Amino acid sequence: MFEPTPEDKFTFGLWTVGWQARDPFGDATRPPLDPVESVHRLAELGAYGVTFHDDDLLAVEPDRDKAVAAFRKALDETGLKVPMATTNLFTHPVFKDGAFTSNDRDIRRYALRKVMRNLDLAAELGAKTYVFWGGREGAESDGAKDVRVALDRFREAIDTLASYVTDKGYGIRFALEPKPNEPRGDILLPTIGHALAFIGSLEHADMVGLNPEVGHEQMAGMNFVHGIAQALWHGKLFHIDLNGQHGPKYDQDLVFGHGDLKSAFFLVDLLENGGYDGPRHFDYKPTRTEDISGVWASAAANMRTYLILKERARAFRADPEVQEALTASRTDQLAVPTLAADETYDSLAQDDFDLEAAAERGYHYERLDQLAVEHILGAR
Ligand code: GCO
Ligand code: MN
Ligand code: MN
Ligand code: MN
Repeated sequence: MFEPTPEDKFTFGLWTVGWQARDPFGDATRPPLDPVESVHRLAELGAYGVTFHDDDLLAVEPDRDKAVAAFRKALDETGLKVPMATTNLFTHPVFKDGAFTSNDRDIRRYALRKVMRNLDLAAELGAKTYVFWGGREGAESDGAKDVRVALDRFREAIDTLASYVTDKGYGIRFALEPKPNEPRGDILLPTIGHALAFIGSLEHADMVGLNPEVGHEQMAGMNFVHGIAQALWHGKLFHIDLNGQHGPKYDQDLVFGHGDLKSAFFLVDLLENGGYDGPRHFDYKPTRTEDISGVWASAAANMRTYLILKERARAFRADPEVQEALTASRTDQLAVPTLAADETYDSLAQDDFDLEAAAERGYHYERLDQLAVEHILGAR
């Protein structure tokens, strides 16, 4: 039980297990990891696929052609898929003021070229989603960046790249990844809501959706389950980054479920029952304390925790007492339109509504919440 298989569609970024654990205060605690080894180990652990930034492939082999050939061979040997790819537009010093929104036009043009080159590889490897995390698109000083103009350039970049993908017939969709801050003091498109509004302004809005990350919304104090529900409601949940976070602080990228466990439970419940059929992608960082055995243990932990929560969510929904509690909370009534099909606002004029009685009625949400907690704890 709780053994992952490729049918579970678990995927990992090469940069997750491959993170050498450098932080602003300390050097790497782990040696570079060969992407070939990551592919083999992730396949052994039961993953479905891997994802990568262009530069991740160069971790131990600086020659791009050789690195790509070795990666392809590992994919062929293991059967691992590449459902998503992305671009590193943040590590090199040239991106210190951003990529698509750098004040320096030459750098903006270089960034587009870098993305196009990796889009070609992503298409060759069969990726269907391309992620854009605007890590350095932002500022520390409000005087440094005219955000309205920066958004013009951001839109120009995404529209240009969307045209490129369409003209090439790659069949790739874009997924924007919001984050409020880190590494910049403030990042453009800081939350799901900001990104959704931005997408509405794009020329190719239909092929652009979201790749929300658990920790990023929680860094902004947002309810991730609500954010994902709204993304689904707009038809914009193209991909997802699963991990853990303890509220508003630096980006922790913990193992999935190792942050807000109750939120993780309701997230799995939503993903499994809410119509999301994309990869369950883990974007986490094995903590700096871990050696390589701890890295693989943490990779396995992400998948095992997801599967346990999936089972807990199933048990929660199947519990007759939960069903009764949901009805007692009148959750079913929310699906009934407020006006009947043949009514207009005029129909609201006459009503035998009892204001006092309605105000007195309780919703019994505490009982529902306790039932959820007991299912999470395995007490039911
Ligand atoms: C973060 C981000 C990144 C992006 C990744 C894909 O933790 O700040 O999630 O990990 O997801 O770079 O572009
Ligand atoms: Mn991410
Ligand atoms: Mn993160
Ligand atoms: Mn990350």
